[in-house]
Amino acid sequence: MLISSRSLDEYCGFFGLTRAGLRALPGPVLDCPGGAAALVAEARALGCRVLAADPAYAEPGAELLARAEAARQTMARAMPAAPARYLSPRHLPYEKYLRSWDRARRLFAADRAAHPGDYVAAALPALPFADASFALTLSSYLLFAYPERFSQDDQLAALLELVRVTAPGGEVLVHPLHDAASRPSPRLPRLREALGRHGVRSELRTVRAPGDGRRRYVLALTRHHRYRAVPWTNS
Ligand SMILES: C[S@@+](CC[C@H](N)C(=O)[O-])C[C@H]1O[C@@H](n2cnc3c(N)ncnc32)[C@H](O)[C@@H]1O
Repeated sequence: MLISSRSLDEYCGFFGLTRAGLRALPGPVLDCPGGAAALVAEARALGCRVLAADPAYAEPGAELLARAEAARQTMARAMPAAPARYLSPRHLPYEKYLRSWDRARRLFAADRAAHPGDYVAAALPALPFADASFALTLSSYLLFAYPERFSQDDQLAALLELVRVTAPGGEVLVHPLHDAASRPSPRLPRLREALGRHGVRSELRTVRAPGDGRRRYVLALTRHHRYRAVPWTNS
């Protein structure tokens, strides 16, 4: 699996977030999976607390960075053949986009060295956070991007775990809702029904980043008053 190195701007574009909106949040943000993104570092500079969780944080830092650099090389090979598949017009040419990954990776490495406690080694569907810990929870390029790694039950358990750690009144935002070949997830309708049975309200949101021209879909999850947190267990 690729360890991507995205910037705060790229996250804002995916999820329809703004810097002002992040600053106005009443509590911390969770980014799961965090990968080698600059979100924690760039949000810190804004005065906003973000925690990142990813199983790759259990690896030695040098190994993780080597994997992130390898992911950059993979993208550099794939992009020239089909840049429009990967990128919005705002991010073209692709060399410019990849430079944003290089900058993000450097920010990630420096911030993780300075604040290791903000990068938590953990894997969905079992996160080591108390119920309702976060005002906003973000999950990009995992659950639907790699459907071969997550059964429908795994996806449901992971989504419920993301809701559990998110405060009432807060949201879980998930993107993308398609696989690597841009095929929308056929499981989404059944997952949304199952989430509803657990007292989780789901909304499909359309996001267009400013100057981007691309339409993206985000799954937004919130607690309904019927929701009761159930910690994940594999028993
Ligand atoms: C393509 S990266 C996405 C990172 C970041 N969210 C982004 O949009 O760039 C996928 C990440 O998922 C992490 N991952 C793999 N299995 C996971 C799991 N079960 N729970 C949480 N993260 C996982 C990988 O270690 C990798 O860093």
